[in-house]
Amino acid sequence: MPDTITITDDRTGKTVTVPISGGVFPSSALRELDPSLFMYDPAYLSTAACKSEITYLDGDNGILQYRGYPIEQLAEKSTYLEVAYLLLNGELPDKVQLEAWTDDVTHHTFIHENMRKRFVDGFHYDAHPMGMFVSAVAALGTFYRDAKQIDDKESRDKQILRLIAKMPTLAAMCHRFSVGQPFVYPNNDLSFPGNFLNMMWKVGEYEVDPRLERAMDVLFILHADHEQNCGTTAMRVVGSSHADPYSACSAAASALYGPLHGGANEQVVRMLTEIGSIDNVPAFIQEVKSGTGSKLMGFGHRVYKNFDPRATIIKKAAYDVFEVTGKNPLLDIALKLEEAALSDDYFVSRKLYPNVDFYSGLIYQAMGFPVDMFTVLFAIPRTAGWLAHWQELLGDKDQKISRPRQWYTGVEARDYVDLGDRG
Ligand code: CMC
Repeated sequence: MPDTITITDDRTGKTVTVPISGGVFPSSALRELDPSLFMYDPAYLSTAACKSEITYLDGDNGILQYRGYPIEQLAEKSTYLEVAYLLLNGELPDKVQLEAWTDDVTHHTFIHENMRKRFVDGFHYDAHPMGMFVSAVAALGTFYRDAKQIDDKESRDKQILRLIAKMPTLAAMCHRFSVGQPFVYPNNDLSFPGNFLNMMWKVGEYEVDPRLERAMDVLFILHADHEQNCGTTAMRVVGSSHADPYSACSAAASALYGPLHGGANEQVVRMLTEIGSIDNVPAFIQEVKSGTGSKLMGFGHRVYKNFDPRATIIKKAAYDVFEVTGKNPLLDIALKLEEAALSDDYFVSRKLYPNVDFYSGLIYQAMGFPVDMFTVLFAIPRTAGWLAHWQELLGDKDQKISRPRQWYTGVEARDYVDLGDRG
């Protein structure tokens, strides 16, 4: 099969042949044909906006790999900090590197006193933790004058370390404020997930259950990256203007907040609660299909058209967590909903399967997290992915400031009409 593609402009008869590799051809073909030619591609359905070596995703076969390692193996054998190192550096750390990296992260978990007191106290008492988190990430950058030195590798590495280490602290800070409990300082004797759980829940003598600590870490691993999703694209777009990484991460977190993206886990639990009983599942499915109700939250994906491998791992992890916490009463409704959807032609023909958010909310809820915190839990580990993409972007000679074109469909030029003459 030839490894080129030929495009002909029927208006001029001009023909351009360009290489095609991995199903992708360069848009320079269009510029060669006619520099004023643009593709109309809403939501970037057919656009590869970058080359990337970080995450491989095969939606038809349900494959997800970080730097070539299958997600199933990473979820079984590694820790989130190892995975973060892998995403950022391209290789798994050896023992010495992992020790140094863990030590570095552990010693950057504290936040400035002004953040945990004066900043957070400014929020309304019922502020949504994810809204607080988005603002807190941007605000964090103002404490580091070197944050803007993005051309200096040493400074970039430092910001990366700070962001990865402080995200759990910011997340727990937002939670504690929203439930009116005092801030808990990081405990550097604990693991990354253990420290987070401790900052979330510590009241009096609290000890982290090692099974929940491991479950938290597995969830962090599964959420660490997912190539060019909406949040990561926001990270790259904002990063392309050479904004500091705190501002870019805050933009990425804002994108994640939406119910069609990371906000879906929250919506799944709200949906299951509203359904209330397995007897109501058929009527709910009917409502979704008729278009009169909402979508089936936690189902469907832009890329996965067979199954989401993260959902399979999460479903198993859910049972591990329920052994400790007791079963989430919403599980039966979720299972019935999944069964009903997977045997219904509406969902099958559209290739709609459970995604990562379908079961993650049930685990979070069983672990005691309030629904409002679910998207924050997604953002903590996704920071590693955002920063890996940010680094890659800054080192990519093909990249420039993001600036798509538009298809103008407004009125043609006309003369200004004075207010008195407008009737
Ligand atoms: N429930 C019912 N119908 C659906 C659903 C759903 N969850 N998802 C897609 N469809 C229908 C959609 O209405 C359309 O039907 P038709 O062809 O008749 O117009 C068809 O399936 C194709 O959907 P689409 O909206 O063109 O697909 P997309 O790739 O633009 O959207 C999605 C992907 C994830 C936004 C969408 O499936 C969705 O809204 N799902 C529910 C929200 C959700 O669970 N989001 C989490 C995504 S995974 C975590 C993450 O990456 O953030």
